[in-house]
Amino acid sequence: MSGGVAIFSLRHDDSPPISPIVYAGLDLLSRVVVGQFDTEEGVLLQLEYEVKGMDFRNAGKASTRVRKRLQQLGLDSTTLRSVAVICYEAEMNIVIHAYEGRLIVDIDTTMIEITARDRGPGIEDIERAMQDGFSTAPEHVREMGFGAGMVLTNIKRLANSLQLESTEGEGTCLKAVVYYGYPQKGGVQSCQGSFTP
Ligand SMILES: Nc1ncnc2c1ncn2[C@@H]1O[C@H](COP(=O)(O)OP(=O)(O)OP(=O)(O)O)[C@@H](O)[C@H]1O
Ligand SMILES: [Mg+2]
Repeated sequence: MSGGVAIFSLRHDDSPPISPIVYAGLDLLSRVVVGQFDTEEGVLLQLEYEVKGMDFRNAGKASTRVRKRLQQLGLDSTTLRSVAVICYEAEMNIVIHAYEGRLIVDIDTTMIEITARDRGPGIEDIERAMQDGFSTAPEHVREMGFGAGMVLTNIKRLANSLQLESTEGEGTCLKAVVYYGYPQKGGVQSCQGSFTP
Protein backbone atom coordinates (compact mmCIF):
# COMPACT_ATOMS: atom_id res chain seq x y z
CA MET A 1 0.00 0.00 0.00
CA SER A 2 1.41 3.36 -0.92
CA GLY A 3 0.28 6.93 -0.47
CA GLY A 4 -2.84 8.09 1.27
CA VAL A 5 -5.00 11.03 2.12
CA ALA A 6 -5.67 12.57 5.50
CA ILE A 7 -8.37 15.20 5.77
CA PHE A 8 -8.84 17.49 8.75
CA SER A 9 -12.20 19.21 8.98
CA LEU A 10 -13.20 22.52 10.52
CA ARG A 11 -14.85 23.17 13.84
CA HIS A 12 -17.07 25.89 12.39
CA ASP A 13 -19.38 25.45 9.45
CA ASP A 14 -20.77 28.99 9.33
CA SER A 15 -19.34 31.31 6.70
CA PRO A 16 -16.26 33.15 7.79
CA PRO A 17 -16.27 36.93 8.26
CA ILE A 18 -14.14 39.15 6.05
CA SER A 19 -12.20 41.90 7.71
CA PRO A 20 -12.74 45.40 6.24
CA ILE A 21 -8.98 45.89 6.01
CA VAL A 22 -8.70 42.97 3.67
CA TYR A 23 -11.60 44.25 1.63
CA ALA A 24 -9.73 47.50 1.14
CA GLY A 25 -6.56 45.64 0.20
CA LEU A 26 -8.31 43.36 -2.23
CA ASP A 27 -10.15 46.23 -3.80
CA LEU A 28 -6.87 48.01 -4.34
CA LEU A 29 -5.39 44.82 -5.71
CA SER A 30 -8.20 44.24 -8.18
CA ARG A 31 -7.67 47.71 -9.54
CA VAL A 32 -3.91 47.41 -9.71
CA VAL A 33 -3.59 43.96 -11.23
CA VAL A 34 -6.71 43.72 -13.27
CA GLY A 35 -5.05 41.21 -15.58
CA GLN A 36 -4.83 38.68 -12.79
CA PHE A 37 -8.44 39.03 -11.73
CA ASP A 38 -10.05 35.71 -12.41
CA THR A 39 -13.74 35.95 -11.57
CA GLU A 40 -14.64 32.51 -12.85
CA GLU A 41 -12.39 30.77 -10.37
CA GLY A 42 -13.04 33.35 -7.69
CA VAL A 43 -9.30 33.78 -7.31
CA LEU A 44 -8.19 37.39 -7.12
CA LEU A 45 -4.51 36.71 -7.28
CA GLN A 46 -2.29 33.68 -7.44
CA LEU A 47 1.31 33.70 -6.28
CA GLU A 48 3.52 30.83 -7.36
CA TYR A 49 7.12 30.05 -6.52
CA GLU A 50 9.51 27.23 -7.28
CA VAL A 51 11.18 25.48 -4.38
CA LYS A 52 14.20 23.21 -4.74
CA GLY A 53 15.07 20.27 -2.54
CA MET A 54 18.10 20.70 -0.25
CA ASP A 55 18.64 24.28 -1.48
CA PHE A 56 19.19 25.79 1.96
CA ARG A 57 20.70 28.92 0.41
CA ASN A 58 17.34 29.98 -0.99
CA ALA A 59 15.17 28.20 1.55
CA GLY A 60 12.50 30.48 2.94
CA LYS A 61 12.59 32.96 0.06
CA ALA A 62 9.27 31.89 -1.44
CA SER A 63 7.41 32.30 1.83
CA THR A 64 9.14 35.63 2.51
CA ARG A 65 7.86 36.90 -0.86
CA VAL A 66 4.37 35.72 -0.05
CA ARG A 67 4.49 37.50 3.32
CA LYS A 68 5.69 40.75 1.76
CA ARG A 69 2.98 40.64 -0.90
CA LEU A 70 0.27 40.01 1.67
CA GLN A 71 1.63 42.83 3.82
CA GLN A 72 1.31 45.15 0.82
CA LEU A 73 -2.32 44.11 0.51
CA GLY A 74 -2.97 45.15 4.11
CA LEU A 75 -3.91 41.73 5.40
CA ASP A 76 -4.80 41.62 9.09
CA SER A 77 -1.90 40.51 11.26
CA THR A 78 -3.51 37.31 12.59
CA THR A 79 -4.24 35.98 9.13
CA LEU A 80 -0.89 37.18 7.85
CA ARG A 81 0.98 35.39 10.63
CA SER A 82 -0.87 32.12 10.05
CA VAL A 83 -0.35 32.20 6.29
CA ALA A 84 3.32 33.19 6.64
CA VAL A 85 4.09 30.37 9.09
CA ILE A 86 2.22 27.76 7.04
CA CYS A 87 4.00 28.86 3.85
CA TYR A 88 7.41 28.77 5.51
CA GLU A 89 6.89 25.35 7.05
CA ALA A 90 5.42 23.89 3.85
CA GLU A 91 8.31 25.36 1.87
CA MET A 92 10.85 23.90 4.29
CA ASN A 93 9.21 20.50 4.06
CA ILE A 94 9.80 20.58 0.30
CA VAL A 95 13.41 21.72 0.83
CA ILE A 96 14.10 19.03 3.42
CA HIS A 97 12.04 16.10 2.24
CA ALA A 98 11.47 16.44 -1.53
CA TYR A 99 13.39 16.93 -4.76
CA GLU A 100 11.53 19.95 -6.08
CA GLY A 101 8.18 21.58 -5.75
CA ARG A 102 5.99 24.66 -5.93
CA LEU A 103 4.42 26.89 -3.37
CA ILE A 104 1.15 28.31 -4.67
CA VAL A 105 -0.93 30.85 -2.78
CA ASP A 106 -4.45 31.65 -3.98
CA ILE A 107 -5.78 34.89 -2.58
CA ASP A 108 -9.54 34.75 -2.65
CA THR A 109 -12.27 37.09 -1.42
CA THR A 110 -12.92 35.04 1.72
CA MET A 111 -9.80 33.00 2.25
CA ILE A 112 -6.23 32.24 1.34
CA GLU A 113 -5.40 28.77 0.09
CA ILE A 114 -1.85 27.54 0.32
CA THR A 115 -0.77 24.66 -1.86
CA ALA A 116 2.64 23.06 -1.58
CA ARG A 117 3.14 20.28 -4.07
CA ASP A 118 6.29 18.39 -4.74
CA ARG A 119 8.00 15.65 -6.63
CA GLY A 120 9.71 13.52 -4.06
CA PRO A 121 9.73 10.28 -2.11
CA GLY A 122 6.26 10.92 -0.69
CA ILE A 123 5.11 10.04 2.80
CA GLU A 124 4.96 6.40 3.73
CA ASP A 125 2.48 6.78 6.57
CA ILE A 126 0.57 10.06 6.63
CA GLU A 127 -1.07 9.46 10.01
CA ARG A 128 2.34 8.90 11.56
CA ALA A 129 3.78 11.97 9.85
CA MET A 130 0.98 13.99 11.44
CA GLN A 131 2.01 12.96 14.94
CA ASP A 132 4.06 15.24 17.17
CA GLY A 133 7.73 14.43 17.14
CA PHE A 134 7.74 12.15 14.11
CA SER A 135 10.49 13.09 11.71
CA THR A 136 12.56 11.43 9.05
CA ALA A 137 14.82 14.48 8.64
CA PRO A 138 18.42 13.33 8.08
CA GLU A 139 21.14 14.03 10.64
CA HIS A 140 22.78 16.92 8.75
CA VAL A 141 19.40 18.65 8.55
CA ARG A 142 18.74 18.10 12.26
CA GLU A 143 22.06 19.76 12.98
CA MET A 144 20.63 22.88 11.35
CA GLY A 145 17.81 22.88 13.85
CA PHE A 146 15.10 21.18 11.83
CA GLY A 147 13.56 17.79 12.44
CA ALA A 148 11.46 18.37 15.54
CA GLY A 149 8.53 16.83 13.70
CA MET A 150 6.10 19.44 14.96
CA VAL A 151 5.35 21.27 11.76
CA LEU A 152 2.40 19.37 10.43
CA THR A 153 0.80 19.62 13.86
CA ASN A 154 1.44 23.36 13.90
CA ILE A 155 -0.05 23.82 10.45
CA LYS A 156 -3.09 21.86 11.60
CA ARG A 157 -3.46 24.36 14.45
CA LEU A 158 -3.03 27.48 12.31
CA ALA A 159 -5.14 26.52 9.31
CA ASN A 160 -8.90 26.39 9.10
CA SER A 161 -8.52 23.26 7.06
CA LEU A 162 -5.67 21.06 6.01
CA GLN A 163 -5.37 18.31 3.47
CA LEU A 164 -2.28 16.28 2.92
CA GLU A 165 -2.05 13.84 0.08
CA SER A 166 0.92 11.75 -0.82
CA THR A 167 1.91 8.95 -3.13
CA GLU A 168 5.03 7.06 -2.27
CA GLY A 169 7.73 7.43 -4.88
CA GLU A 170 5.88 10.29 -6.57
CA GLY A 171 5.33 13.20 -4.24
CA THR A 172 3.22 15.09 -1.78
CA CYS A 173 0.59 17.78 -1.93
CA LEU A 174 -0.37 19.88 1.08
CA LYS A 175 -3.35 22.21 0.93
CA ALA A 176 -4.20 24.55 3.78
CA VAL A 177 -6.95 27.16 3.95
CA VAL A 178 -6.92 30.24 6.18
CA TYR A 179 -10.02 32.44 6.35
CA TYR A 180 -9.63 36.19 6.79
CA GLY A 181 -10.17 37.49 10.29
CA TYR A 182 -11.14 34.14 11.67
CA PRO A 183 -9.56 34.05 15.11
CA GLN A 184 -10.64 30.64 16.30
CA LYS A 185 -8.30 28.32 14.50
CA GLY A 186 -7.15 24.89 15.40
CA GLY A 187 -10.61 23.51 14.99
CA VAL A 188 -9.49 20.02 14.22
CA GLN A 189 -12.62 18.05 14.72
CA SER A 190 -11.91 14.83 12.99
CA CYS A 191 -9.11 13.13 11.20
CA GLN A 192 -10.36 10.83 8.53
CA GLY A 193 -7.10 9.07 7.91
CA SER A 194 -8.45 7.21 4.92
CA PHE A 195 -5.68 5.43 3.16
CA THR A 196 -6.13 4.68 -0.50
CA PRO A 197 -4.39 1.69 -2.00
N1 LIG B 1 6.85 17.13 1.39
C1 LIG B 1 7.17 16.03 2.05
N2 LIG B 1 7.69 14.95 1.38
C2 LIG B 1 8.01 13.81 2.04
N3 LIG B 1 7.86 13.64 3.36
C3 LIG B 1 7.36 14.66 4.07
C4 LIG B 1 6.99 15.91 3.47
N4 LIG B 1 6.52 16.73 4.43
C5 LIG B 1 6.57 16.03 5.59
N5 LIG B 1 7.07 14.79 5.38
C6 LIG B 1 7.24 13.72 6.37
O1 LIG B 1 6.50 14.07 7.54
C7 LIG B 1 7.40 14.14 8.66
C8 LIG B 1 6.89 15.17 9.63
O2 LIG B 1 6.95 16.45 9.02
P1 LIG B 1 7.14 17.74 9.94
O3 LIG B 1 7.18 18.92 9.04
O4 LIG B 1 6.12 17.71 11.00
O5 LIG B 1 8.54 17.51 10.64
P2 LIG B 1 10.01 17.63 10.03
O6 LIG B 1 9.98 18.33 8.70
O7 LIG B 1 10.66 16.30 10.03
O8 LIG B 1 10.72 18.55 11.12
P3 LIG B 1 10.40 20.08 11.43
O9 LIG B 1 9.80 20.08 12.79
O10 LIG B 1 11.74 20.76 11.36
O11 LIG B 1 9.47 20.55 10.37
C9 LIG B 1 8.75 14.42 8.04
O12 LIG B 1 9.83 14.07 8.86
C10 LIG B 1 8.70 13.57 6.78
O13 LIG B 1 8.90 12.21 7.08
MG1 LIG C 1 8.91 20.11 8.51
